[in-house]
Amino acid sequence: MSFCVIPLLLCLSVAVAVTESAIGVNWGTVSFHRLKPSTVVDLLKDNKIRKVKLFDADPDALTALMGSGIEVMVGIPNEMLSPLSSSTAASDLWVRQNVSTYLLKPGADIRYIAVGNEPFLTSYSGQFQSYVVPALQNLQQSLAKANLAGYVKLVVPCNADAYESSLPSQGAFRPELTQIMTQLVEFLNSNGSPFVVNIYPFLSLYGSSDFPQEYAFFEGTSHSVTDGPNVYNNAFDGNFDTLVAALNKIGYGQMPIVIGEVGWPTDGAISANLNAARTFNQGLINHVLSNKGTPLRPGAPPLDIYLFSLLDEGAKSVLPGNFERHWGIFSFDGQAKYPLNLGLGNRLLKNAKNVEYLPSRWCVANPTRDLSDVANHMKVACGVADCTTLNYGGSCNGIGVKGNISYAFNSYYQVQMQKEKSCDFDGLGMVTFLDPSVGECRFLVGVTSSSGLGSYKKWLISGQLILWFFIM
Ligand SMILES: *[C@@H]1O[C@H](CO)[C@@H](O)[C@H](O)[C@H]1NC(C)=O
Ligand SMILES: *[C@@H]1O[C@H](CO)[C@@H](O)[C@H](O)[C@H]1NC(C)=O
Repeated sequence: MSFCVIPLLLCLSVAVAVTESAIGVNWGTVSFHRLKPSTVVDLLKDNKIRKVKLFDADPDALTALMGSGIEVMVGIPNEMLSPLSSSTAASDLWVRQNVSTYLLKPGADIRYIAVGNEPFLTSYSGQFQSYVVPALQNLQQSLAKANLAGYVKLVVPCNADAYESSLPSQGAFRPELTQIMTQLVEFLNSNGSPFVVNIYPFLSLYGSSDFPQEYAFFEGTSHSVTDGPNVYNNAFDGNFDTLVAALNKIGYGQMPIVIGEVGWPTDGAISANLNAARTFNQGLINHVLSNKGTPLRPGAPPLDIYLFSLLDEGAKSVLPGNFERHWGIFSFDGQAKYPLNLGLGNRLLKNAKNVEYLPSRWCVANPTRDLSDVANHMKVACGVADCTTLNYGGSCNGIGVKGNISYAFNSYYQVQMQKEKSCDFDGLGMVTFLDPSVGECRFLVGVTSSSGLGSYKKWLISGQLILWFFIM
C-alpha cells in the first residue's frame, strides 16, 4: 500500500500492520557529553535497532535519522501541551516544522508523535491533564491537513501510576483520571493508535523495602502473586495486566499496548548495577520475544517495547535518585556496558565507532597540597558535573577521600571541555596523563560535542520551502 502526500514529491509506503513485538530504544540527550547524532544513528544501525523514541523533535537527531530506515517516535514536551491545545495554528506549525519537513525523501520515518511525556504523573498534580485531549485533537486535525493522519499516529506515554490495584485483575485507572482516560482511549482507538505505558519494576524495588527482589526479574520467584486462576511470576506481567484490566473496565480491553519505557539502571543505587541491569533487560527481551504474553493476554505480548535507555544522560535531574543518570545500555560515549542480546540479529551489543574523544587526560587532586579546604570546590564541581557514582551504592563509592576529590575535579574538568583553568581549584588540582580509574570506577574522558547544523540542514530548509510552496 502506498499513498502520496504530494504527488511525486512525497510518497510513502505503508506496511500492513504486523503484531510482532519489536525492540526499540529511547534516545535521550540530557548529557554533558553528547555524541554526534550521526554517530548515534550508526550505533543504532550497527545494532540493528529499527525503532527509536525521542523526547522532542531535535533537528540534529531527526536530520541524522533521515534515510536510515529507522522508525521514529518524536516527542512533544509537556510544556508545549498548553499552546498546542489552544491553537490549531500552533499545531499546524508544529506538524509542519517537526514532522512534514523530515518526511521528504530520503526522510526520517516518523511514525508516532508522543504528545506529552507522562502528563498524568501524580507529582505533576494535574497541571498538564486538561491539555492532553485538546492538544491531541488539534494535532490530529493538523496531521489530516498535511495528509499524514493515516501514517503518523498520536500517542500519549503514560506512567504506570495512572492505574492502580493490589491484584492485576482488579486494575483501574486512578479515580480522578477515569473520565480523561476514557476520552484518551476513545481517541486512540478511533485513530488506530496504541496505548503507550512506561513500566519500571526497578522503581518498585527501589521505592519499597518489602518488594521482593526476585519478583522484579524474570527468573522465577518464591514470591509469585496469585490472582484467581492466574499466577504472576514477575512484576512486569503483573503491571501489564493491571493496565489490561483498567482498559477493560472502560470498555477497551483489546487496545494494543506499547511499552514506551522499560529498563534498569547500572549505577547510583544498591540494586542498580551491571549484573541486575543485564539480568532484567535480557530476561525482559527473552520474555517478550517468546510471544508467551501475559495471563490476561496470552500469546499477545506488547506491540513494541522501547528500552530505557540507549545512552547514559549525565545531566539529568537526580530528583528521582542518583540512578537517574545511569539507565543506558551504553555509557554516554556509546560503549556497551554489559553483554546483551537484543534479539535483533547480533548476539552482543556493538560499541559506537569513530567516537571523537577529548585528549586522554584527567584532572586529579594534587598530592603535594593540603586538601583540607577542598569542600567548597567539591560542592561547586559536583553541583555542575556528575558525581552520582561516589554515593552509597555507586561504582565509585569506595575510592577514599582523595579519590572522591579527584573524581569530582575530573568530572568538572571534562564538562568544561578540559579547559586548563577548570583544573585549577586554587592550585589543588593537577592534570595527569595516567588514567586514574580504579576497578569499576571509571574516570571519564569527555567527547567533543558538535552542535553545528551541517549542510544537510540547509538543504532541508530549502526542502521545507518547496513543501510549503506546494501546500499553499
Ligand atoms: C519543533 O520541535 C522543537 C523541538 O522539540 C521545538 O523547539 C519547536 O518549538 C517545535 N516547533 C514548533 C513550531 O512548535
Ligand atoms: C566520598 O563521597 C561520598 C559522597 O559524598 C561519600 O558518601 C563517601 O563517604 C566519601 N568517601 C570518603 C572516604 O570520604
